[in-house]
Amino acid sequence: MFSILLFLPIIVFLFLFLFRKSNTGGKKWTLPPGSLGWPYIGETFQLYSQNPNVFFASKQKRYGNIFKTHILGCPCVMISSPEAVKFVMVTRAHLFKPTFPASKERMLGRQALFFQQGEYHSKLRKLVMRAVMPETLKGLVSDVETIVVNSLASWEGREINTFQEMKTYAFNVALLSIFGKDEVLYREELKSCYYILEKGYNSMPINLPGTLFHKAMKARKQLARIVGQIISSRRQIKEERNDLLGSFMGQKEALTDEQIIDNMIGVIFAARDTTASVLTWIVKYLGENPSILQAVTGEQEEIMKRRKGDGERSLTWADTKNMPITSRVIQETMRVASVLSFTFREAVEDVEYEGYLIPKGWKVLPLFRNIHHSPENFTDPGKFDPSRFEAAPKPNTFLPFGNGIHSCPGNELAKLEKLVLLHHLTTKYRWSVMGPQSEIQYAPFALPQNGLPVKFSLKT
Ligand code: HEM
Repeated sequence: MFSILLFLPIIVFLFLFLFRKSNTGGKKWTLPPGSLGWPYIGETFQLYSQNPNVFFASKQKRYGNIFKTHILGCPCVMISSPEAVKFVMVTRAHLFKPTFPASKERMLGRQALFFQQGEYHSKLRKLVMRAVMPETLKGLVSDVETIVVNSLASWEGREINTFQEMKTYAFNVALLSIFGKDEVLYREELKSCYYILEKGYNSMPINLPGTLFHKAMKARKQLARIVGQIISSRRQIKEERNDLLGSFMGQKEALTDEQIIDNMIGVIFAARDTTASVLTWIVKYLGENPSILQAVTGEQEEIMKRRKGDGERSLTWADTKNMPITSRVIQETMRVASVLSFTFREAVEDVEYEGYLIPKGWKVLPLFRNIHHSPENFTDPGKFDPSRFEAAPKPNTFLPFGNGIHSCPGNELAKLEKLVLLHHLTTKYRWSVMGPQSEIQYAPFALPQNGLPVKFSLKT
C-alpha cells in the first residue's frame, strides 16, 4: 500500500505527460505514436545495445515516419519522411534550433557556427562560405593534389588503417582551407593538440587533473595560444588572404580572437571525420565492386592522359568537374554509408506537424539513413549502384549534407578532396583489404570494422 502511495504521483505525472494535449490555436494535437520506455532511461538501452539502425527501422515499421521515443534523458520525435525533414530543416527551421551536449559545446567553443541561430549565424556562415566557395577552391586544387601525392606515397607497401590515414589527409586539407599555403608551418603542432582535444569530445565533463576532459581542455588552451600567435603575426604583416583565417579577420566583419578560435576548431571538427569516413567507405565499396572500380579508373586514366599530353600539368578545377562516374560513386557511397545517420534539433516552442504535437524542448531527429534506405525513395536501396544518380534524386530524399540554413557549407571542399584523392589512387595504386569486412562500427560515424585495414601498392 505504502509503495502505491509513493509511486502514485509519479504515475499520475507520467499519465498526464504521455497523454498531454495542447490547446494552442484552439486545436487539439496529440503526441506522435511510439513509446517513451522507462522513466528517465527511456529507450536508451534498446538504442545503444544494438546497431542503432535496427532500432530506427523497427520503430519506423511499427509507427510510421514520425514517432516519439526517449533517449539519453530527453524525449524525442524521430522523423523519416522527406516532407517532415523539409518542414524541420527548411520551411520551419526557425522553430527548431540545433542542439548538442553541453560538454561538446565547451570543447568546440560556444561561439562556433553550429550552436548559433539568427544574425550571428548568418554572418559566420557567410565568412565560412567565402573561404570554401568554388571561386576560392579553384586556387587550392594543386595544393590539395600535393597533399594527396605525399599521403599516398607514405602508404605505399604498408598495411594501413584506412580511416586513420584518411583522418590525417582530411586534417591537412582542413588546415589548408584555414591557413592557406602556410598550413605546413603549423601542421604538426596543431595536430598534436587537436588529437588530444578530440579524445575529450565524448568524455564526462569532469575537469579534474588526469581526466580526458581536463587534458582536452588543456589542449584547447594550447591550440588557442598557437592560433592567437598566428593571428597576431598576420595582423603585423597586414596582408589580405582569401583563406578561412583571412575571411574571419576581414576588415569589415572581423571576429574577435575567441570567436575565430571557436570557429576554427569547429570547422576542423566538422570537416575531418566526416570526410575521412566517406573516403574509407569509398575504398571499401570500390574494392568490392571490380566493374565499378574499372569504370572509375578508366575515367581517371583519360584525365591523366590529357594532363600528360599538356606537359605533365597539375590537376585543375575543370578536370574535377569532368568526372561524372567518380562523382556518382561518391554520391552512392554517401547514400549507402550515410555516415551521419541523423542530426539533432530542439523545438523552441510547441509545434504542430500534420496534427501531431512536437512539444517545446523536445529533441527532433531527422533520420537521414532511413530516408536514404527507404524503397520509396531509392529502388533496391541496399544495392551499391552509382548509376541510380544518373537521374537526380527527388527533393529531400538525398541529404548527406543536410538541408536548409544549417546545411554543410563545406560540401564543395569535401567533394574536391575525394575527387583528387580518387584520381591518384585509382590510376597509380591497387589495394587489398586485410581480413573479413562485413561488420560496421559506430564511432559515432558509421565505419567499416577496425577502420578498414588495407595494403596499398604501386601499380606496375
Ligand atoms: C563528406 C564530408 C562531409 C559531410 C558528410 C558533412 C555533413 C554535414 C551535415 C549533414 C551538416 C548539417 C548538420 C545539421 O544540419 O545538423 C554539416 C554541417 C556543417 N559542415 Fe559539413 N560535412 C562534410 C564536410 C565538411 C567540410 C569539409 C567542412 C569544412 C568547411 C564542413 C563544415 C561544416 C560546418 C561548419 C557545418 C555547420 C553549418 C551550420 O551550422 O550552419 N563540413 N555537415
